[in-house]
Amino acid sequence: MKVYLDNAATTPVDPEVLAVMMPFFKEKFGNPSSVHYQGQEAKIALDRARVEVADFFRVEPEEIIFTSGATESVNLAHKGLIETFQKSRVPACQAEKPHIVTTSIEHKAVLETCRHLEKLGWAEVTYLPVDRFGLVRAEAVERAIKPNTVLISVMYVNNEVGTIQPIKKIGDFVKKINLSRPASGAPRIFFHTDATQAIQYLNCDVSELGIDLLSLTGHKFYAPKGVGLLLVKSGISLVRQQDGGGQDHGRRAGTENVAFIAGLAEALKQRAAGKEQEAKRVKELRDRLAEGILKKISGVVLTGHPEKRAPHIASFTIRGVEGEAVLMYLADEGIAASSGSACAAGDLNPSHVLLAMGVKPELAHGSLRFSLGKKTTIREIDYVLSVLPEIVVKLRKMAPK
Ligand SMILES: Cc1ncc(COP(=O)(O)O)c(C=O)c1O
Repeated sequence: MKVYLDNAATTPVDPEVLAVMMPFFKEKFGNPSSVHYQGQEAKIALDRARVEVADFFRVEPEEIIFTSGATESVNLAHKGLIETFQKSRVPACQAEKPHIVTTSIEHKAVLETCRHLEKLGWAEVTYLPVDRFGLVRAEAVERAIKPNTVLISVMYVNNEVGTIQPIKKIGDFVKKINLSRPASGAPRIFFHTDATQAIQYLNCDVSELGIDLLSLTGHKFYAPKGVGLLLVKSGISLVRQQDGGGQDHGRRAGTENVAFIAGLAEALKQRAAGKEQEAKRVKELRDRLAEGILKKISGVVLTGHPEKRAPHIASFTIRGVEGEAVLMYLADEGIAASSGSACAAGDLNPSHVLLAMGVKPELAHGSLRFSLGKKTTIREIDYVLSVLPEIVVKLRKMAPK
């Protein structure tokens, strides 16, 4: 039996998404910047996709920038914004560098971008700690704000442990603080969230949540790899990070990937239909898996928040085994899972997320993540429950005392 439980790493392209994309590789191959018929046909498709995506988020089409994925979106959001502040003559920023508040459990896309800005000397960054469930307190984010804070970047759902962060609370106080900022001369604070693991199942209404910038990548929700978007609320100016042509209103140079963008728009539409029902179904399967594992295997701890967690992620530490070894044995049984982030696969250091949550390094080496998707069935879950306990017993017997 083949069981794919690594949907947080990537998902297959939906047949409906592929069908929408196909014409743009063949008869509708035009460059949307060309004035002729083929070009205009592609431009119409691009504009339509932008409107559809904007409708999904209930924003204006001009507030969507298509990118190659969440990594690029995050880079553009952080570097673009900080560069704007570097260039501007906001008095508070002349004395001090612009300040970013983020968390220690962000995806590397955010952490490395922040470190890069620190190295350049362009920004000062606060990396907030999290509790043992991987949760950052909204109050701690608020307390970290300084007069030179210009950006708060907190991921919506952690990709390794599934913990949902208090996005609305943060958005609400950012709105409130911004109301009083002009009087003090301090710059406005912008709120960015990496919604990559949230988009399928959680509310992503940016106005309701108070989000100014949102990043995501298509391949986590059945669109292809290599396409994503950055949502930027109007009035926010970002220095573009790719120089070249004037595409995307001068905000991102390079010929638009029309086929993939059309696919991304279709994938969002597909996910929006029946979202709550699917979230409920996946959550029930995830709970069956988590409860089964905790019952059948000793020395296992569920990592992440027990309730505030995305429906599709079940993650654990298993005492006395190496996560990578469990993965290999699972693969032999036809089961695909992960030891955490796909980007860190092959990296023998324990996960920065688990360490930030206070998990001891020796235990963090025994991490295992199952991430469910729209094709996951109860039969598959029960199959995992039937093979995993034996694998753990075998590996524990083999482990040096
Ligand atoms: C939370 C999160 N952010 C960002 C990314 C980066 O996405 P991409 O590699 O498609 O740019 C990922 C993918 O693993 C992710 O899970």
